[in-house]
Amino acid sequence: MKRQKFLARFSRQTLTVKLVITVSTVVCLIVTIGVLVLMDVSYRGIAQTSVTTALYHAQFLKNKLIENMLDSTFNKEAFRETLDFETRRLGLKEVNVFNTEGVTRFSSIPENINKRIDLTADQEDRLTPDKGMIHFSDMSREGQLRIVHPIRGHALCMSCHENAQNKMLGGIELFVPLKPIYERFTVSRFILIFSALAIIILSAILIRWVVHKIVKRPIERLIEGMEKAEKGHLDVKTAIKRDPDLRRLSNSFNTMIRGIRMSQRKIAEQHQRELAQSNRLASLGQFISNISHEIKNPLAAIGATLHALRGEFQSSDRQGILGELIRQVERIEETVHNLLRYARQSPPRFKRCLVSGRLYHAYHLAEHHLKSQKIQTRFSIDKPEQAVNADEGQLEQVFLNLFLNAAKAMPAGGTVSVRVRCVSGNQADHSSAGRSPGVLIEIEDTGAGIPSDILPKIFEPFFTTREGGTGLGLSVSKGIIAAHKGTIHAASTVGAGTTLTIFLPAGDNAGISGSDGKMPLTLAERP
Ligand SMILES: Nc1ncnc2c1ncn2[C@@H]1O[C@H](COP(=O)(O)OP(=O)(O)O)[C@@H](O)[C@H]1O
Ligand SMILES: [Mg+2]
Repeated sequence: MKRQKFLARFSRQTLTVKLVITVSTVVCLIVTIGVLVLMDVSYRGIAQTSVTTALYHAQFLKNKLIENMLDSTFNKEAFRETLDFETRRLGLKEVNVFNTEGVTRFSSIPENINKRIDLTADQEDRLTPDKGMIHFSDMSREGQLRIVHPIRGHALCMSCHENAQNKMLGGIELFVPLKPIYERFTVSRFILIFSALAIIILSAILIRWVVHKIVKRPIERLIEGMEKAEKGHLDVKTAIKRDPDLRRLSNSFNTMIRGIRMSQRKIAEQHQRELAQSNRLASLGQFISNISHEIKNPLAAIGATLHALRGEFQSSDRQGILGELIRQVERIEETVHNLLRYARQSPPRFKRCLVSGRLYHAYHLAEHHLKSQKIQTRFSIDKPEQAVNADEGQLEQVFLNLFLNAAKAMPAGGTVSVRVRCVSGNQADHSSAGRSPGVLIEIEDTGAGIPSDILPKIFEPFFTTREGGTGLGLSVSKGIIAAHKGTIHAASTVGAGTTLTIFLPAGDNAGISGSDGKMPLTLAERP
C-alpha cells in the first residue's frame, strides 16, 4: 500500500525530478557500496599494519632479552626496568616473558611474575617454535591486540639451556592498546563518509544541471510552442538543435503546425469561395426568378396566339411555319420552367422512405428514353434496405438527372448499373457528412467518361459541355443532396465510364418493411 502510494506520488513528479531522483539514488547506492568496501579495506590495512608493528616489537624485545641474558652482568631487576622502559617507549600496554611451562618470568607489571600465561587456544593457533598467536580482543576504543610469540633457543643459549638450539625456550606476550589504531581508523572513516556525502551532493547538483540543460529546457521550449499553437498562434516554430530525439520531435511539431497552417488557409479560401459563390447564386437565383416570371407571361400569350393563328391558316406551309414557331416557344417555356425550378430550390419536405422506391420511380420516367438508346439498366439493392429521411420528389429529381446524364453520355448504347448498399459509418469514408451509418447509391454508366480537368467543375451551376445543356442538373442535385446532409461525388475514366456516388445518412427504419409499396419486388431483376 505504502509502496503504491510512493509510486503514485513519484509518477506525478516532473520528468526532471524523476530523472534526478533516479540517477541520484543510483549514485548514492554506488558511493555507499564503495565507501563500505573502502572502509573494510582500510580497516584490514590498519589491523595488518598494527600486527606487523607488534611482531616487530616482539622481535625487538626478544633480541633485547637474549642480548641481556648473554651478558655476564645479567641482572633480573635491571632487565625488568629495561622491559618497563621499552614497554612505555613503544606504547605497549603490557609485556610478559614466560618459560616453557608458561609461567611469567619477567613482566612490565611486577604482579604478573610467576603467574601462568593463558596459552589455551585453538588447535591451529597453538604456540609452536615457529608460529606465534595473534588475537584481537574487542575491536573497539577500549580493545587490545594480544601477541604471543615463541622464543627459540640458538647455539649461544646452550651455555645455560641444555639442547637449546631450535627448541622453544619460552615466549613473549605483548598487549598493544587498540585506542590509537581505532582513532586512526575513525578519522579515515570520517574522511570517507564526508567525501561520499560530498560526491553524492555534487553529483545530484551536476545531474540536475545536466537534466535541466539537456532535457528540461528543450522540452519547455516545445511545450511553450505547443501552448502558443493551442492559443491559435500558428506562426510558432521550435528550434532544438542538439538532442537528436528532441530535434525529431521538434521537427515533426513544426511540420504539423505548417500542415495545420496550410489547411487552415485552404479552408479559409474555400469558405471565401463558397461565400462568394452562394452570394452570386442567391442574386443569380433572384435574377433568374424575376426574369423567368417576366418571360413566362408574354411567352404564354405568344403561345396562345400562335395556336389561335394556326387554326386560321389553311395552307400547309404556313401551318408548318406556325408549328415550328410553337415548338420553339415550347422549348423556351421548358427552359424557363427549368430555370425557375433551379431558382426556387425549395427546402426538402422530409419523409421516411426507401431509396430504391425513388430510384425505380425516376427510372420509370427515363425508361423510354434509355431503352430507345439501347441502354440496359441493372439494379442491385441490399436487403434489408436501410430507410432514409428524404424529400421523395427531390430525390427522384436527382436520380432522374443522373439517369439522363448517363443516357447522354452513351449515345450508342451501354449499361447503367444501379447499386444501393447500406453502410456502417466507416465504410462511408468518402462522406464528409461524418461517420454516421447510411445508404450508398452508385449510378455507373459505360459512357464516354469525363476528362480529369473538367471533373472538378461538373457540379458548378451552368457548367455544361453539351449543346443545349443548361449545366444545372448536377448543380441542383448537389444542392438537394446537401440539404439532405448527404454527399455526392463523381469518379470517371475517359472511355470507360462514370460513376456518381451519393451518400445519404440513415433514417428511422420503424414502420418500413422492405418496400414502400410503390416498388415492385422484381425490381432487382429488371433490365
Ligand atoms: N454520366 C456522365 N458522363 C459524362 N459526362 C457527364 C455525366 N454526367 C455529367 N457529365 C458532365 O457534366 C456536365 C454537367 O452536367 P449537368 O449539370 O447535368 O448539366 P447538363 O446535363 O445540362 O450538361 C455535363 O455537361 C457533362 O459534361
Ligand atoms: Mg444534365
